[in-house]
Amino acid sequence: MNITGFTYCGFIQVPLMDRTIYFNGKFVPENQVRISFEDRGFQFGDGVYEVIKVENGRAFALYRHLRRLARSLHGLDIRISEDIDFGTVVRHLIQANSASDGLIYIQITRGAAPRAHGFPKDSKPTVVAYSMPWNDITPKEFDAGASAIIIPDERWGRCDIKSLNLLANVLAKQKAAQAEAAEALLERVGVGVLEGTSSNLFAVSGGNLVTAPSSPYILGGITREIILELADQLQLPIEEKALSKKQLLRSDEAFITNRGIAVLPLVTIDDNIIGSGKPGPITRRLAFAYNELISKATDLEWL
Ligand code: PDD
Repeated sequence: MNITGFTYCGFIQVPLMDRTIYFNGKFVPENQVRISFEDRGFQFGDGVYEVIKVENGRAFALYRHLRRLARSLHGLDIRISEDIDFGTVVRHLIQANSASDGLIYIQITRGAAPRAHGFPKDSKPTVVAYSMPWNDITPKEFDAGASAIIIPDERWGRCDIKSLNLLANVLAKQKAAQAEAAEALLERVGVGVLEGTSSNLFAVSGGNLVTAPSSPYILGGITREIILELADQLQLPIEEKALSKKQLLRSDEAFITNRGIAVLPLVTIDDNIIGSGKPGPITRRLAFAYNELISKATDLEWL
Protein backbone atom coordinates (compact mmCIF):
# COMPACT_ATOMS: atom_id res chain seq x y z
CA MET A 1 0.00 0.00 0.00
CA ASN A 2 1.22 3.48 -0.67
CA ILE A 3 -0.96 6.38 0.29
CA THR A 4 -0.62 8.17 -3.02
CA GLY A 5 -2.84 5.47 -4.50
CA PHE A 6 -4.66 2.38 -3.36
CA THR A 7 -2.24 -0.19 -4.68
CA TYR A 8 -2.94 -3.87 -4.75
CA CYS A 9 -0.02 -5.79 -3.31
CA GLY A 10 -1.21 -8.53 -1.16
CA PHE A 11 -0.89 -11.73 0.62
CA ILE A 12 -3.13 -14.21 -1.04
CA GLN A 13 -1.91 -17.74 -0.62
CA VAL A 14 -2.83 -18.92 -4.11
CA PRO A 15 -0.68 -17.19 -6.78
CA LEU A 16 -2.82 -14.92 -8.95
CA MET A 17 -2.37 -16.95 -12.17
CA ASP A 18 -3.59 -20.11 -10.46
CA ARG A 19 -6.77 -18.62 -9.06
CA THR A 20 -10.09 -20.38 -9.29
CA ILE A 21 -12.57 -18.08 -11.04
CA TYR A 22 -16.35 -18.26 -11.18
CA PHE A 23 -17.20 -18.00 -14.86
CA ASN A 24 -20.73 -18.37 -16.23
CA GLY A 25 -21.92 -21.00 -13.80
CA LYS A 26 -18.66 -22.91 -13.28
CA PHE A 27 -15.56 -22.66 -11.13
CA VAL A 28 -12.60 -22.84 -13.51
CA PRO A 29 -8.85 -22.18 -13.46
CA GLU A 30 -8.01 -18.64 -14.50
CA ASN A 31 -6.55 -19.71 -17.87
CA GLN A 32 -9.91 -21.17 -18.89
CA VAL A 33 -11.78 -17.89 -18.72
CA ARG A 34 -12.54 -16.79 -22.29
CA ILE A 35 -14.62 -13.70 -22.97
CA SER A 36 -15.70 -12.81 -26.49
CA PHE A 37 -14.45 -9.61 -28.14
CA GLU A 38 -18.13 -9.05 -28.87
CA ASP A 39 -18.96 -8.99 -25.19
CA ARG A 40 -20.87 -5.79 -24.49
CA GLY A 41 -18.69 -5.14 -21.47
CA PHE A 42 -15.76 -4.79 -23.89
CA GLN A 43 -17.71 -3.02 -26.63
CA PHE A 44 -19.81 -0.61 -24.56
CA GLY A 45 -18.92 -0.97 -20.87
CA ASP A 46 -22.45 -2.39 -20.69
CA GLY A 47 -22.39 -4.05 -17.30
CA VAL A 48 -22.08 -3.71 -13.55
CA TYR A 49 -19.75 -4.83 -10.78
CA GLU A 50 -19.38 -5.22 -7.03
CA VAL A 51 -16.37 -5.19 -4.71
CA ILE A 52 -16.66 -7.10 -1.44
CA LYS A 53 -14.07 -7.12 1.36
CA VAL A 54 -13.08 -10.42 2.92
CA GLU A 55 -12.11 -10.29 6.59
CA ASN A 56 -10.90 -13.42 8.37
CA GLY A 57 -12.37 -15.64 5.69
CA ARG A 58 -15.82 -14.01 5.73
CA ALA A 59 -17.35 -11.65 3.17
CA PHE A 60 -18.03 -8.41 5.02
CA ALA A 61 -21.62 -7.13 4.60
CA LEU A 62 -22.11 -9.59 1.76
CA TYR A 63 -25.86 -9.18 1.61
CA ARG A 64 -25.75 -5.38 1.42
CA HIS A 65 -23.41 -5.78 -1.57
CA LEU A 66 -25.67 -8.34 -3.21
CA ARG A 67 -28.66 -6.04 -2.78
CA ARG A 68 -26.72 -3.19 -4.41
CA LEU A 69 -25.69 -5.56 -7.21
CA ALA A 70 -29.37 -6.40 -7.78
CA ARG A 71 -30.20 -2.67 -7.89
CA SER A 72 -27.39 -2.01 -10.40
CA LEU A 73 -28.57 -4.89 -12.61
CA HIS A 74 -32.12 -3.59 -12.41
CA GLY A 75 -30.86 -0.08 -13.28
CA LEU A 76 -29.40 -1.38 -16.55
CA ASP A 77 -32.15 -3.96 -17.14
CA ILE A 78 -29.67 -6.86 -17.20
CA ARG A 79 -31.41 -10.08 -16.27
CA ILE A 80 -29.30 -12.91 -14.90
CA SER A 81 -30.34 -16.44 -14.06
CA GLU A 82 -32.13 -16.71 -10.75
CA ASP A 83 -30.16 -19.90 -10.08
CA ILE A 84 -26.93 -18.07 -9.29
CA ASP A 85 -26.38 -18.10 -5.55
CA PHE A 86 -23.71 -15.44 -5.10
CA GLY A 87 -23.36 -16.22 -1.40
CA THR A 88 -22.19 -19.73 -2.29
CA VAL A 89 -20.03 -18.40 -5.14
CA VAL A 90 -18.26 -15.92 -2.87
CA ARG A 91 -17.71 -18.46 -0.08
CA HIS A 92 -16.33 -20.99 -2.55
CA LEU A 93 -13.90 -18.44 -4.05
CA ILE A 94 -12.61 -17.49 -0.60
CA GLN A 95 -12.01 -21.12 0.24
CA ALA A 96 -10.60 -22.26 -3.12
CA ASN A 97 -8.17 -19.33 -3.28
CA SER A 98 -7.30 -19.24 0.43
CA ALA A 99 -8.37 -15.62 0.16
CA SER A 100 -9.10 -15.10 3.82
CA ASP A 101 -8.20 -11.39 3.60
CA GLY A 102 -8.70 -9.62 0.31
CA LEU A 103 -11.35 -8.50 -2.11
CA ILE A 104 -13.92 -10.33 -4.21
CA TYR A 105 -14.99 -8.76 -7.49
CA ILE A 106 -18.22 -9.70 -9.26
CA GLN A 107 -18.42 -8.44 -12.86
CA ILE A 108 -21.55 -8.91 -14.95
CA THR A 109 -22.13 -7.74 -18.52
CA ARG A 110 -25.13 -7.95 -20.84
CA GLY A 111 -23.17 -10.66 -22.71
CA ALA A 112 -21.83 -11.10 -26.23
CA ALA A 113 -23.73 -10.11 -29.38
CA PRO A 114 -22.93 -8.63 -32.82
CA ARG A 115 -22.16 -4.97 -32.29
CA ALA A 116 -25.21 -2.72 -32.21
CA HIS A 117 -26.02 -0.14 -29.58
CA GLY A 118 -29.53 -1.33 -28.75
CA PHE A 119 -30.06 -4.28 -26.43
CA PRO A 120 -29.60 -7.60 -28.25
CA LYS A 121 -32.70 -9.80 -28.24
CA ASP A 122 -31.16 -12.87 -26.68
CA SER A 123 -27.68 -12.28 -25.31
CA LYS A 124 -26.74 -14.26 -22.22
CA PRO A 125 -25.12 -12.18 -19.46
CA THR A 126 -21.44 -12.86 -18.79
CA VAL A 127 -20.89 -13.43 -15.07
CA VAL A 128 -17.42 -13.50 -13.56
CA ALA A 129 -16.34 -13.47 -9.90
CA TYR A 130 -12.78 -13.59 -8.63
CA SER A 131 -10.61 -12.81 -5.64
CA MET A 132 -7.90 -10.19 -5.42
CA PRO A 133 -5.28 -9.61 -2.75
CA TRP A 134 -5.54 -6.46 -0.69
CA ASN A 135 -3.42 -4.96 2.06
CA ASP A 136 -5.25 -2.91 4.63
CA ILE A 137 -4.12 0.60 5.50
CA THR A 138 -1.57 0.31 8.29
CA PRO A 139 -1.88 2.38 11.50
CA LYS A 140 1.15 4.36 10.30
CA GLU A 141 -0.52 5.15 6.96
CA PHE A 142 -3.71 6.11 8.80
CA ASP A 143 -1.79 8.47 11.12
CA ALA A 144 0.04 10.08 8.21
CA GLY A 145 -3.26 10.69 6.41
CA ALA A 146 -3.56 11.26 2.67
CA SER A 147 -3.98 14.09 0.23
CA ALA A 148 -6.66 14.70 -2.37
CA ILE A 149 -7.34 17.09 -5.21
CA ILE A 150 -10.68 18.49 -6.35
CA ILE A 151 -11.57 18.30 -10.02
CA PRO A 152 -14.77 18.70 -12.05
CA ASP A 153 -17.11 15.69 -12.03
CA GLU A 154 -17.40 14.57 -15.64
CA ARG A 155 -19.39 11.38 -14.96
CA TRP A 156 -22.86 10.60 -16.26
CA GLY A 157 -26.09 11.20 -14.31
CA ARG A 158 -26.53 7.69 -12.85
CA CYS A 159 -23.52 7.34 -10.55
CA ASP A 160 -25.75 5.36 -8.15
CA ILE A 161 -25.47 2.41 -10.56
CA LYS A 162 -22.16 0.60 -10.03
CA SER A 163 -21.56 0.37 -13.76
CA LEU A 164 -18.45 -0.76 -15.62
CA ASN A 165 -18.33 2.63 -17.32
CA LEU A 166 -15.50 4.04 -15.25
CA LEU A 167 -13.71 6.20 -17.79
CA ALA A 168 -14.31 9.53 -16.04
CA ASN A 169 -13.21 7.91 -12.76
CA VAL A 170 -10.10 6.47 -14.40
CA LEU A 171 -9.10 9.83 -15.90
CA ALA A 172 -9.74 11.63 -12.63
CA LYS A 173 -7.71 9.10 -10.65
CA GLN A 174 -4.85 9.56 -13.08
CA LYS A 175 -4.95 13.31 -12.43
CA ALA A 176 -4.71 12.53 -8.71
CA ALA A 177 -1.73 10.26 -9.32
CA GLN A 178 -0.02 12.98 -11.35
CA ALA A 179 -0.57 15.37 -8.44
CA GLU A 180 0.77 12.68 -6.05
CA ALA A 181 -2.57 12.61 -4.29
CA ALA A 182 -4.45 9.54 -3.06
CA GLU A 183 -7.79 10.53 -4.48
CA ALA A 184 -9.54 13.00 -6.78
CA LEU A 185 -12.70 14.47 -5.25
CA LEU A 186 -15.37 15.19 -7.82
CA GLU A 187 -17.15 18.54 -7.90
CA ARG A 188 -20.39 18.73 -9.86
CA VAL A 189 -21.27 22.20 -11.11
CA GLY A 190 -24.01 23.77 -9.01
CA VAL A 191 -24.15 20.79 -6.62
CA GLY A 192 -20.85 20.61 -4.71
CA VAL A 193 -18.01 18.21 -3.99
CA LEU A 194 -19.70 14.82 -3.95
CA GLU A 195 -17.34 11.88 -3.58
CA GLY A 196 -14.04 10.45 -4.78
CA THR A 197 -13.35 8.42 -7.93
CA SER A 198 -13.70 5.21 -5.92
CA SER A 199 -14.68 6.42 -2.46
CA ASN A 200 -17.30 8.41 -0.57
CA LEU A 201 -16.35 11.67 1.09
CA PHE A 202 -17.03 12.81 4.67
CA ALA A 203 -16.11 16.06 6.40
CA VAL A 204 -16.57 17.50 9.85
CA SER A 205 -17.91 20.97 9.31
CA GLY A 206 -19.82 23.30 11.66
CA GLY A 207 -19.82 20.55 14.29
CA ASN A 208 -21.59 18.07 11.99
CA LEU A 209 -20.45 14.97 10.19
CA VAL A 210 -21.26 15.93 6.60
CA THR A 211 -21.54 13.72 3.54
CA ALA A 212 -23.36 14.10 0.23
CA PRO A 213 -26.91 12.68 0.34
CA SER A 214 -27.87 9.52 -1.54
CA SER A 215 -28.78 10.58 -5.05
CA PRO A 216 -28.03 9.59 -8.65
CA TYR A 217 -24.88 11.75 -8.32
CA ILE A 218 -23.05 9.40 -5.94
CA LEU A 219 -22.54 5.71 -5.49
CA GLY A 220 -24.28 4.70 -2.28
CA GLY A 221 -21.21 3.16 -0.67
CA ILE A 222 -21.71 0.26 1.73
CA THR A 223 -18.90 1.64 3.90
CA ARG A 224 -20.62 5.05 3.86
CA GLU A 225 -23.86 3.39 4.98
CA ILE A 226 -22.13 1.62 7.87
CA ILE A 227 -20.20 4.76 8.92
CA LEU A 228 -23.49 6.70 9.04
CA GLU A 229 -25.04 3.98 11.21
CA LEU A 230 -22.04 4.07 13.56
CA ALA A 231 -22.14 7.88 13.71
CA ASP A 232 -25.78 7.63 14.66
CA GLN A 233 -24.99 5.15 17.42
CA LEU A 234 -22.24 7.48 18.67
CA GLN A 235 -24.83 10.29 18.60
CA LEU A 236 -22.74 12.43 16.28
CA PRO A 237 -24.77 15.10 14.51
CA ILE A 238 -25.09 14.15 10.84
CA GLU A 239 -25.86 16.41 7.92
CA GLU A 240 -26.38 14.90 4.47
CA LYS A 241 -25.48 17.65 2.06
CA ALA A 242 -22.82 18.28 -0.57
CA LEU A 243 -20.26 20.82 0.62
CA SER A 244 -19.03 23.53 -1.69
CA LYS A 245 -15.33 23.49 -2.43
CA LYS A 246 -14.85 26.48 -0.11
CA GLN A 247 -16.71 24.80 2.76
CA LEU A 248 -14.77 21.57 2.28
CA LEU A 249 -11.42 23.32 2.35
CA ARG A 250 -12.42 25.06 5.59
CA SER A 251 -13.68 21.92 7.28
CA ASP A 252 -12.12 20.64 10.51
CA GLU A 253 -11.68 17.05 9.32
CA ALA A 254 -12.15 15.08 6.16
CA PHE A 255 -11.93 11.42 5.24
CA ILE A 256 -12.84 9.04 2.47
CA THR A 257 -14.31 5.55 2.70
CA ASN A 258 -14.58 2.42 0.62
CA ARG A 259 -14.44 -1.33 1.04
CA GLY A 260 -10.68 -1.56 0.70
CA ILE A 261 -9.42 1.50 2.56
CA ALA A 262 -12.21 1.55 5.19
CA VAL A 263 -11.61 5.05 6.62
CA LEU A 264 -8.71 7.08 5.20
CA PRO A 265 -8.15 10.55 6.70
CA LEU A 266 -7.51 13.40 4.28
CA VAL A 267 -5.02 15.88 5.72
CA THR A 268 -4.57 18.08 2.66
CA ILE A 269 -6.99 18.89 -0.14
CA ASP A 270 -5.75 20.95 -3.10
CA ASP A 271 -2.66 21.74 -1.01
CA ASN A 272 -4.81 23.25 1.79
CA ILE A 273 -4.23 21.74 5.19
CA ILE A 274 -7.41 20.32 6.68
CA GLY A 275 -7.90 21.06 10.39
CA SER A 276 -4.69 20.42 12.29
CA GLY A 277 -3.12 18.57 9.37
CA LYS A 278 -3.57 15.28 11.25
CA PRO A 279 -6.45 12.79 11.39
CA GLY A 280 -9.07 14.47 13.60
CA PRO A 281 -10.91 13.09 16.66
CA ILE A 282 -14.20 12.31 14.90
CA THR A 283 -12.37 10.50 12.09
CA ARG A 284 -10.48 8.45 14.68
CA ARG A 285 -13.64 7.59 16.63
CA LEU A 286 -15.41 6.40 13.53
CA ALA A 287 -12.42 4.41 12.25
CA PHE A 288 -12.13 2.79 15.67
CA ALA A 289 -15.85 1.98 15.79
CA TYR A 290 -15.65 0.49 12.28
CA ASN A 291 -12.73 -1.77 13.23
CA GLU A 292 -14.50 -2.79 16.43
CA LEU A 293 -17.59 -3.70 14.44
CA ILE A 294 -15.53 -6.02 12.26
CA SER A 295 -13.61 -7.63 15.09
CA LYS A 296 -16.69 -8.19 17.29
CA ALA A 297 -19.27 -9.18 14.67
CA THR A 298 -20.74 -12.63 15.12
CA ASP A 299 -21.80 -12.78 11.48
CA LEU A 300 -19.86 -10.50 9.14
CA GLU A 301 -21.92 -11.49 6.09
CA TRP A 302 -25.11 -10.11 7.57
CA LEU A 303 -23.71 -6.82 8.91
N1 PDD B 1 -15.42 1.61 -5.42
N2 PDD B 1 -18.02 5.90 -4.71
C1 PDD B 1 -17.50 5.36 -5.82
C2 PDD B 1 -17.54 6.13 -7.10
C3 PDD B 1 -16.93 4.06 -5.78
O1 PDD B 1 -16.44 3.50 -6.90
C4 PDD B 1 -16.88 3.38 -4.54
C5 PDD B 1 -16.29 2.00 -4.42
C6 PDD B 1 -17.43 4.00 -3.41
C7 PDD B 1 -17.45 3.32 -2.06
O2 PDD B 1 -18.32 2.21 -2.05
P1 PDD B 1 -18.11 1.02 -1.02
O3 PDD B 1 -18.04 1.62 0.33
O4 PDD B 1 -19.31 0.18 -1.19
O5 PDD B 1 -16.82 0.32 -1.38
C8 PDD B 1 -17.99 5.25 -3.54
C9 PDD B 1 -14.79 0.32 -5.42
C10 PDD B 1 -13.92 0.09 -4.23
C11 PDD B 1 -14.08 0.11 -6.75
O6 PDD B 1 -14.55 0.67 -7.72
O7 PDD B 1 -13.11 -0.64 -6.82
